[in-house]
Amino acid sequence: MADMKKKTYTMTVFGCQMNERDAETLRGFLDEIGYEEVDEVEGADLVIMNTCAVRQKAEEKVFGRIGRLGVLKKENPEMMIAVCGCMVQQEDVAKKIKKSYPFVDLIFGTHNIAAFPELLQRAAESKETVLDLWDEAGDVVEGLPVTRKDGVKAWVNITYGCNNFCSYCIVPYVRGRERSRKPEEIINEIKALAKQGFKEVTLLGQNVNSYGKDLEEEMDFADLLVRVDRETDINRIRFMTSHPRDFTEKLAKVMGECDSVCEHVHLPIQAGSNRILKLMNRGYTKEHYLDLVDILRKYAPDCALSTDIIVGFPGETEEDFLDTLDVVDRVGYDMAFTFLYSPRSGTPAADMPHQVANEVKKERFQRLLEVQNKHSLRHNQEAVGKTVEVLVEGPSKTDPGVMTGRTRSSKTVNFTGENVNAGDLVMVEITQARTWSLLGRKSVENRNTNDSSVSGD
Ligand code: 5AD
Ligand code: SF4
Repeated sequence: MADMKKKTYTMTVFGCQMNERDAETLRGFLDEIGYEEVDEVEGADLVIMNTCAVRQKAEEKVFGRIGRLGVLKKENPEMMIAVCGCMVQQEDVAKKIKKSYPFVDLIFGTHNIAAFPELLQRAAESKETVLDLWDEAGDVVEGLPVTRKDGVKAWVNITYGCNNFCSYCIVPYVRGRERSRKPEEIINEIKALAKQGFKEVTLLGQNVNSYGKDLEEEMDFADLLVRVDRETDINRIRFMTSHPRDFTEKLAKVMGECDSVCEHVHLPIQAGSNRILKLMNRGYTKEHYLDLVDILRKYAPDCALSTDIIVGFPGETEEDFLDTLDVVDRVGYDMAFTFLYSPRSGTPAADMPHQVANEVKKERFQRLLEVQNKHSLRHNQEAVGKTVEVLVEGPSKTDPGVMTGRTRSSKTVNFTGENVNAGDLVMVEITQARTWSLLGRKSVENRNTNDSSVSGD
């Protein structure tokens, strides 16, 4: 009866939330065909890597991992290895993997996820690597299975692909052109999530602000937010990523008005110098960006702001870099994700002159970090003494006696308190600030608000 045992798989996901969301679809398929997820690679029947192509480091990690899997596969030839995602959507990379690591069973891209069960079947029957890439994305496919591990927060796609072609970015080449999901599909998915007990959704798109441009009906991203706010019972709505070029005053207004839309915007600036922004093909200036921040703060004064910044884009001078520091100081971000520029073959920036030396990139990166950390800590210190709503994620990974969760402004709070469960919305009094997180204790205010629902769960 040994063959009654469920087949097992393990999956590693690199990169962004889009990839995480795709992984949930792959898990959904695997659930349907009777696989069970395990943590350990050793002994697993299937190992999947959902890869990222945004920076070289992520790609190097995947190559290293495939190499190590080759050793395991010698001991356990029955183990299947599948590589998918953005990295292998680049045809040359996919071919390189097939050639250098012939023990890989299946390679497929970002556009043919819906075909995963058939591809897996084909790979199981084939002695050679099955390589299947589609050049183009095709229409949005609805109704694919999904297995979400978390029961509190969910990712919900609203657009796929990107039309922007920022000169450093590989995403438009591996994720295809922009396609919006129909509002009804999105609303119905969120209604169902709320019914299942989810408290928060993050609407996902490479550029959420261009939502709806390809739809027949007149509808933009702000309209979608209003509908999700009105028509669903979800407690918290977030979204990412916003492109500053398409961020409208209407959206800022909606953010201020819709109760369930959280007070946080992730608005990547990428660079502060207008010359570099132009070379990046970002379509806005530093001044336009700063105006947007003013508009946002006018309508949503408590809104937290985070950003992405690339350091060492080709041709970036010390003066250009000082412009970046200037924006960071003027905006005073709550948080910034900072990256060393990584040349991506096939993108215009990779062939631009005056690539910046690694030491220079690293030195600027360090200075940027110091300036940003100061702002992060300052924002966190301002929260001390306040009582804020926290959506509980569960016990802290480092200390099971402490619970962890996030504020509406996306700040991580580690706190103490009785009768707290994952998925609860609790009021927490902030007692201490760190650069990356807040400490607190469950507030006595909860007696009147949340306790009955906590014990009723
Ligand atoms: N090098 C470094 N960072 C990059 N990003 C995108 N492409 C590159 C690259 N080639 C960063 C951008 C983007 C984030 C997701 O990754 O800041 O917003
Ligand atoms: Fe890349 Fe620019 Fe599209 Fe973002 S908006 S995915 S940075 S091309």
